[in-house]
Amino acid sequence: MKNPVKSYIPSMKNIDSHSHVRGESVYVDDIPELRGTLHAAIFCSPIAHGKIKSIDYSEALTMPGVQHILTHQDIPGENQIGGIVPDEPLFAEKELHFQGQPIAMILADTELQAREALHKIKIECKEKEAIVDPIEAHAKGLLHIPSRTFNLGETSNVWQKCEHIVTGEADTDGQEHLYLETQGAYAYPVENGHIYLASSTQGPTAVQKMAAKVLGIPMHKIEVDVRRLGGGFGGKEDQATAWAVMAALGAKLSKRPVKLILHRMDDMKMTGKRNPYRSTFKIGLSKDLKILAFEADYYQNAGAAADLSPAIMERTLFHGNNSYFIPNVKVTAHSCITNIPPNTAFRGFGGPQGMFVIEAAIAKAARTLGIKKRVIQKNNLLQEGHEFPYGQIAEDCQAHATWNSLEEKHHIEKIQLDIDDFNANNKHFKKGLAIMPICFGISFTNTPMNHARALVHIYQDGSIGVSTAAVEMGQGVNTKMVQVAAKTLSVNAHRIKIESTNTTRVANTSPSAASSTADLNGKAVQIACNALLQRLKKVAADNLDTKVESIKIHEETVFVNDIETKLTWEELIQKAFLARVCLTENGHYATPKIHFDKAIEKGHPFAYHVYGTAAFEVTLDCIRGRYDFDSVKVVHDFGTSMNRIIDLGQMEGGIVQGIGWMTMEELIYNDKGRLLSNALSTYKIPDIYSVPKEIDVTFLNTDGNDMAIFKSKAVGEPPLLYGIGAYFAILDAVQNFNPNFEPKIYHAPFTPEKVLMALYKA
Ligand code: MTE
Ligand code: HPA
Ligand code: MOS
Repeated sequence: MKNPVKSYIPSMKNIDSHSHVRGESVYVDDIPELRGTLHAAIFCSPIAHGKIKSIDYSEALTMPGVQHILTHQDIPGENQIGGIVPDEPLFAEKELHFQGQPIAMILADTELQAREALHKIKIECKEKEAIVDPIEAHAKGLLHIPSRTFNLGETSNVWQKCEHIVTGEADTDGQEHLYLETQGAYAYPVENGHIYLASSTQGPTAVQKMAAKVLGIPMHKIEVDVRRLGGGFGGKEDQATAWAVMAALGAKLSKRPVKLILHRMDDMKMTGKRNPYRSTFKIGLSKDLKILAFEADYYQNAGAAADLSPAIMERTLFHGNNSYFIPNVKVTAHSCITNIPPNTAFRGFGGPQGMFVIEAAIAKAARTLGIKKRVIQKNNLLQEGHEFPYGQIAEDCQAHATWNSLEEKHHIEKIQLDIDDFNANNKHFKKGLAIMPICFGISFTNTPMNHARALVHIYQDGSIGVSTAAVEMGQGVNTKMVQVAAKTLSVNAHRIKIESTNTTRVANTSPSAASSTADLNGKAVQIACNALLQRLKKVAADNLDTKVESIKIHEETVFVNDIETKLTWEELIQKAFLARVCLTENGHYATPKIHFDKAIEKGHPFAYHVYGTAAFEVTLDCIRGRYDFDSVKVVHDFGTSMNRIIDLGQMEGGIVQGIGWMTMEELIYNDKGRLLSNALSTYKIPDIYSVPKEIDVTFLNTDGNDMAIFKSKAVGEPPLLYGIGAYFAILDAVQNFNPNFEPKIYHAPFTPEKVLMALYKA
């Protein structure tokens, strides 16, 4: 009997799960090394700001195994890797702008030899004052780009109409990506100056482009290949480039393979993180608790080079009012130059930093009025037809639906009563509750980036190879690509292989980012597969002597007018091949409808928005300052999820990562710009003991949106935003113990130390 074919499995397991569990999945450091491979170690700036007075490599060069030491002087092309602003040299020349800034690369026979030689480089510097605070940088006029403002209505006219006005400050610290696989690349010369470059990057084209620029050769001489990433979280959207370019440079100049893998502490020291922000706000409410006006100034700590910070700053402005409708808004963002490593993309891309500020403003207003925060939140949720400050109109708006469904399903009022009861009966333990609604725009805010391609081959035996621009980084995009091809062609998923992401197969790609990878690449796969399907139907019609319109291919069998024939997928492919029909197709997709005009800061930048609402319940140990999350309950708008297992994994991971950012992950730089929390002994991330005891995710029953692949809404970044609720749940618990406590500055993370001080603050 024929095996039943299932072309579409809505909860297909991640196709990598077997090889992950068996340790067989290949990452850059697992690629078998070629004979003669050299290993790189990076010498970097010991100071945060200043000049190199002298540098002496002579002793390092005599160390065992050392073959080359490369500096900016060895660069054949341009010493420049800045993506948005050309302000970032690959290797420092004279000026030093952050501790950990690369100055030189040692190439040795073994990694240990390269690292040992680092200690023999002698450097003398002239140190200048380091600036690490964005507001101080702003006061000195140190900005990467001119500040930008989004406006809706006219705030200045409405303050006098407001019954309640509250001002305050809200700061969020940075966050280390802590991808399991550190930054790394492996490059080797092929022939005729062509370089093969395996890189752990979210942006293969960015790597290819910068490598070509630095090496002074055309892009077609560099082939970038990405199998998968051991996590990226935005940290490899732009910042994988430097290391890949260094490896390529080493390979070109030494004519040998070069491998460069950062050690964890070097990665933590040298690479940028989530941008810390400091912000001021002013919020005005009417008597009936409608938010009439909101103003904020966001001071983004961008670090020493622009990197992606200008785009991140833009998304902060886009998400300044979260999922609330506010008729009068004026929000301004400043991208401030400081002497820490250039900060970069991190899940949410500036959105979470902006959303924390409006949540703090609402919290402070509620405190001032002596009411629950959620009363104001609920009273101001976005509705269909409301205008965002950037001009887009809310469509398919699920702010109320997710809020109401959460409230009803989980009996939030009952939870509150239970909490009140618990608090009345416990002296040293207090519980807190917070509701966190979210709204996140899907698309790269930079319209020209919203496109992708796919290359699909059907082989003679009926098996299929799919290449796209999508980079698998644990988010499950390759599994979703299998589902798209399998469903569109109506073949068994086992027939489909997802190839590595390679610039020679799919060129000019946008990075896998902005939660848009599955939408953009999935639509491209769908377009390519539909074109192939059309061609195959013609072959079937010719063979069965009927019209193309009568043909259907369903579960690997050809049907004529809905009647099953004997013609199978494999036979059909054979016939197509013999008839000399092309079994390869290239699909191109560019998101329709979106546009944005920066001159007026208005447009329709997002394909659609994702909505959801979460409830956080926390129990605080008021003697120790420790806390445990009892539960996180979420109602989330996935549209029509195409893979519930993967989407649920994204929810759980994102929520926990968001909680980490809001509670325990603490990046500490001293006033000389040195990162003190530079290892896992000093930088705490959530572990199995600190995750919520319960994460309950409800899939809101909606249709989804045609702009999403198979109406399955993007899911990568939005869950992280829920984490903000963790801060406000803790704050609620603290205030239930110490009613006098009011944060002078709403400042995340709310670490146990800070909680302890808050509990006993007079
Ligand atoms: N999930 C895992 N496991 N690993 C990651 O690196 N990156 C996040 C999110 N989820 C990430 C992840 C970020 S920052 C983004 S933008 C999206 O996945 C990218 O993938 P997508 O566009 O396919 O959602
Ligand atoms: N999100 C993520 N990455 C990006 C974006 C964005 O909106 N724009 C440019 N890179
Ligand atoms: Mo994600 S921060 O857009 O890589």
